Amino acid sequence: MNKETKTVSQSRVFKSSHVLPPDTNNHGTLFGGKLMAYIDDVAALCARKHSRCNAVTASTDSIDFIKPIKVDDEVCLEAFVTWTHKTSMEIFVRVLAENLFTGERIVCATSFLTFVAIGDDGQPTEVPKVMPTNEVERYLHETAPERAENRKKRRINSKALIEKIGSSLLWDDDYNEAEKK
Ligand SMILES: CC(C)(COP(=O)(O)OP(=O)(O)OC[C@H]1O[C@@H](n2cnc3c(N)ncnc32)[C@H](O)[C@@H]1OP(=O)(O)O)[C@@H](O)C(=O)NCCC(=O)NCCS
Repeated sequence: MNKETKTVSQSRVFKSSHVLPPDTNNHGTLFGGKLMAYIDDVAALCARKHSRCNAVTASTDSIDFIKPIKVDDEVCLEAFVTWTHKTSMEIFVRVLAENLFTGERIVCATSFLTFVAIGDDGQPTEVPKVMPTNEVERYLHETAPERAENRKKRRINSKALIEKIGSSLLWDDDYNEAEKK
């Protein structure tokens, strides 16, 4: 089934939070794990709005923590779909911190994630194509196939690694079998 093409803005998501002590570490900066959860959350909302389906995180290329986010700053995340294939969507997340006294704003992290739309049968289902409408969106759209190709290679390598290391744990009789392989 062919689905109607959507613009990037139709599913763009913003999320803002005040950084308070329970979410910070002993350096007075936002926990990395908390930021990772925020990133996954905005990206998931974006994927669901674009596909209007359930969607699961298939992979995160990387999260680059470029600058720390300090307590009492505002943390703002922007997520948008940069590219789609058949059932998958690449989502870009930009994380900014704003000093609430001075208004100074810096980019603290960026991330590319891939989500897969899941149909009522629990299987991956086709998603609408996405149409970029400005220079940044076009740049990210045009460079996406190369990132997707790298992801495909990484997936093959991950499967090979899983095959090699297996699933047995220390207390299983066959734990040392993996070493013999
Ligand atoms: C993601 C998932 C649904 C893919 O299912 P699958 O049966 O392997 O499906 P396929 O191999 O047919 O791939 C379907 C799509 O997913 C993409 N995909 C699968 N694994 C991927 C990965 N690691 N990175 C990027 N894309 C991936 C494929 O490229 C394909 O995209 P396309 O249809 O646009 O070409 C499945 O691996 C899964 O359920 N993973 C766990 C997801 C999860 O629990 N996430 C955390 C909580 S939301």
